[in-house]
Amino acid sequence: MDAGRSRGRTIGPPELPSVVVMTQIPPNSLPSTPPPAASARGLTRTYGSGPTAVHALREVDLDLPRGRFTAVMGRSGSGKSTLMHCLAGLDRPTDGTVTIAGTTITGLGDDDLTRFRRDHLGFVFQAFNLLPMLTARQNVLLPLELAGRRIDRAIIARLDHVVEVLDLADRLGHRPGELSGGQQQRVAIARALVCEPDLVFADEPTGNLDSETAAEVLGLLHRGVHELGQTVVMVTHELEAASYADDVVVLADGRVREHLASPETEVVAAALIAPVLEVTR
Ligand SMILES: Nc1ncnc2c1ncn2[C@@H]1O[C@H](COP(=O)(O)OP(=O)(O)OP(=O)(O)O)[C@@H](O)[C@H]1O
Ligand SMILES: [Mg+2]
Repeated sequence: MDAGRSRGRTIGPPELPSVVVMTQIPPNSLPSTPPPAASARGLTRTYGSGPTAVHALREVDLDLPRGRFTAVMGRSGSGKSTLMHCLAGLDRPTDGTVTIAGTTITGLGDDDLTRFRRDHLGFVFQAFNLLPMLTARQNVLLPLELAGRRIDRAIIARLDHVVEVLDLADRLGHRPGELSGGQQQRVAIARALVCEPDLVFADEPTGNLDSETAAEVLGLLHRGVHELGQTVVMVTHELEAASYADDVVVLADGRVREHLASPETEVVAAALIAPVLEVTR
């Protein structure tokens, strides 16, 4: 930095005695706005090309605040899963950037991206993505083993807690093919939560669950945010599930239609049924 700039800005023609305006702010008086847990800029995902191209995401700008539970809603095909996959580095966008905890993950190579995901993110897939040859317990512990983490007492305690809340204790020795859809979904949730990632993406995590189990899962996600400081982003079609979230993002036709902070249920419902007014490209 040049010495003049570090002292301040000089006003007035050079021949006059200069007036120096101090522009440096003492570091401890700066407002401390934490960076968002995840942000997207110009995020675009197009499948195919030409007249048959599908524009799943169209230049989405989004900041997801840290330590909040955000629900992502919108009609089937509006781009929710595509957004989650791009934000979590599971799919490469056609254009735009994704930044997570200060790292622009869209600029990372495959190995660095895999490592980053392993260390920071948990993902509950809409289609579960459990490995069929592993038991439920092995599936749950797989991300930790891939990360080379020792399965110590703290992890076992966390595993026991998650398994108890999700009512999976007597199913841990079974393979996915021997489990019901709802049980597989709970194993997928346990896998995403057991290593307490900073950021959890859950794509319709309660889609296959009865209302009582769904409430347990939502309570678990909610506690992760408010007791452990995690950030959770959850796709749901259900207003009841969204009511556990702090904020709601509504997608329509690959764009963010609304980003509502602590909305009333009626406001979310109105945003969901509003017609798409924008002319699509
Ligand atoms: N691999 C793919 N190839 C082509 N088109 C795709 C692909 N994946 C998604 N799409 C299209 O992109 C659009 C957005 O899909 P996406 O799965 O993100 O929707 P969604 O909002 O999650 O829907 P749902 O609520 O049904 O899960 C849809 O029109 C879909 O058909
Ligand atoms: Mg989806």
